[in-house]
Amino acid sequence: MTEEAFDVVVVGSCMTDLVSQAPRLPKAGETIHGHKFFIGFGGKGANQCIQAARLGAKTAMVCKVGKDFFGDNYIQNFKDNGVYTDFVGQTSDSATGAASIIVNSAGENAIVIVAGANMLLGIEELHKALSAISHAKVLVCQLEISPQTSLDALRMARENKVKTVFNPAPAVPDLDPDFYRVSDVFCCNESEAELLTGFSVANVEEAHRAGQELLKRGCGSVIVTLGPQGCMVLKAQESTPKHVPATAVTAVDTTGAGDSFIGALAFYMAHYPTMPLEEMACRANQVAAVSVQAAGTQTSYPFKKDLPVKLF
Ligand SMILES: Nc1ncnc2c1ncn2[C@@H]1O[C@H](COP(=O)(O)OP(=O)(O)O)[C@@H](O)[C@H]1O
Ligand SMILES: *[C@@H]1O[C@H](CO)[C@@H](O)[C@H](O)[C@H]1NC(C)=O
Repeated sequence: MTEEAFDVVVVGSCMTDLVSQAPRLPKAGETIHGHKFFIGFGGKGANQCIQAARLGAKTAMVCKVGKDFFGDNYIQNFKDNGVYTDFVGQTSDSATGAASIIVNSAGENAIVIVAGANMLLGIEELHKALSAISHAKVLVCQLEISPQTSLDALRMARENKVKTVFNPAPAVPDLDPDFYRVSDVFCCNESEAELLTGFSVANVEEAHRAGQELLKRGCGSVIVTLGPQGCMVLKAQESTPKHVPATAVTAVDTTGAGDSFIGALAFYMAHYPTMPLEEMACRANQVAAVSVQAAGTQTSYPFKKDLPVKLF
């Protein structure tokens, strides 16, 4: 690889969302008529990468899609957003990851996720991307791919002094303890913090306690996102956790807010490495707050040009 270093490399998932809106959820064996269907781009890894790219980060995605229509389409989506795609593999052994989502008129949903090609991303693909990973400013991983691949990628980054952001989502109760040790920033939401610590995380004080427990396990810093309450930031060198409140906005659709937050955080870590983490979190809160004010996941993610200049 000869191009200059990437700001943000994401090793993670890509999913196509197939969304049907219907008056109610069908019962087993039943066929019902819905009134709206749309296809959306999702997957936590891809979402985070695209938010970072829209803020102006030079990004690369390391992932696997199927050799199918959805895979081709997703690669085009990365290109449209300026994401480098040479490390997006296509396989004929599995389909592109898909989430079939049915939403009823009360806004409740039933979802089937088939991870598909995401689970075939492994050490071989990481080796192909080694130069990009080892020269990146920031590496970001989640858990929608094989956990071993995430851990291998984080270790690879660490060995090369690349800053790491780990988002343990979707959370698993038996997370390999090495994930904490390889995370410069360990960023999760309330339910993930609950599952990982066994503590209740329903308010700012409880997020303190859970954050402190996670920090003890060996990460550099912990961020617990708290929806409309913003987030809690804890640093290993400091004993006082900081609550960083969110801007009050009217939320329309909070799907993917956490991914917008993490993508923005990765952008700030890459562009302003000496900025205090609370300040980065404060700005990431503001980016994510924009994303909750529009419908959809990636469709709601702001571009640099849509945001106040004070965020840059
Ligand atoms: N209703 C809201 N108003 C303002 N900001 C919000 C709202 N919901 C989410 N956010 C922003 O998005 C971030 C992530 O949201 P959260 O709900 O914690 O994550 P997840 O999407 O994983 O459930 C929050 O830290 C906050 O910055
Ligand atoms: C946290 O993220 C998970 C996905 O990993 C999601 O299912 C859950 O609803 C989120 N929790 C909150 C409180 O937003």
